[in-house]
Amino acid sequence: MNIVLLGAPGAGKGTQAAKLVEEEGLCHISTGDILRAAVKNQTPLGVKAKSYMDAGDLVPDDLIIDLMKERIQQPDTEKGVILDGFPRTTTQAVALDTMLSELGRPLDAALLIDVDPEVIVNRLCSRRMCKECGHIGTAADAACPKCGGEMYQRDDDNETTVRNRLDVYEKSTSPLIDYYRGCELLVTIDGDRDPQVVYTDVKEALKL
Ligand code: AP5
Ligand code: MG
Repeated sequence: MNIVLLGAPGAGKGTQAAKLVEEEGLCHISTGDILRAAVKNQTPLGVKAKSYMDAGDLVPDDLIIDLMKERIQQPDTEKGVILDGFPRTTTQAVALDTMLSELGRPLDAALLIDVDPEVIVNRLCSRRMCKECGHIGTAADAACPKCGGEMYQRDDDNETTVRNRLDVYEKSTSPLIDYYRGCELLVTIDGDRDPQVVYTDVKEALKL
């Protein structure tokens, strides 16, 4: 099963993907996580990507497409992937169609997790992540509820950058809603409910 998770920054893509990984064993590819690791390790990709990410702008399509071409051919993707944060532009969506068609793996669904932007600003300013296991939590978590690790705040989770990320989403990524509607792959899920309730709808949409 190959799925695209669509949705604004903070809509809950990572949260829902983590549940699918835990319960269904699907392979999760988050371009944001890959880029943050590249920045941390100061790889050539990380060095190029950092200023875009700090500003909340998109990293150029050619860098992202090259990264995904390599990642999607790795053996752990053969049984299917959850794509989180990719594609983010029409150019990336067209490139993904080509990659999947070359691999003979069709896309099964594009799930749009829909949340009001003002809800998102609050969510992202209070998001905290675990340094050890990557668990996505909130400022209410003094330590990671999964592994006890130290929690930190992402560099782009401040109000100014979050508002720019939302603008960039509206301008560059939201056209993909119509793109996937046109391919009859779009399923919209109300993401402004308890994460477990959202997950029930995600599973229903994927017939899991
Ligand atoms: P990326 O890491 O993909 O960030 P994003 O799309 O901005 O999304 P987030 O990770 O912030 O949100 P999410 O939807 O995963 O929400 P989460 O589950 O964490 O990208 C970062 C940057 O990398 C980009 O700005 C860009 O520069 C670059 N980049 C990445 N991919 C790229 C691409 N393809 N092309 C170009 N550039 C790219 O949840 C958020 C918070 O809400 C958490 O605290 C969580 O606990 C809480 N929460 C989740 N669900 C609920 C719920 N139902 N109710 C209440 N709270 C909830
Ligand atoms: Mg995420």
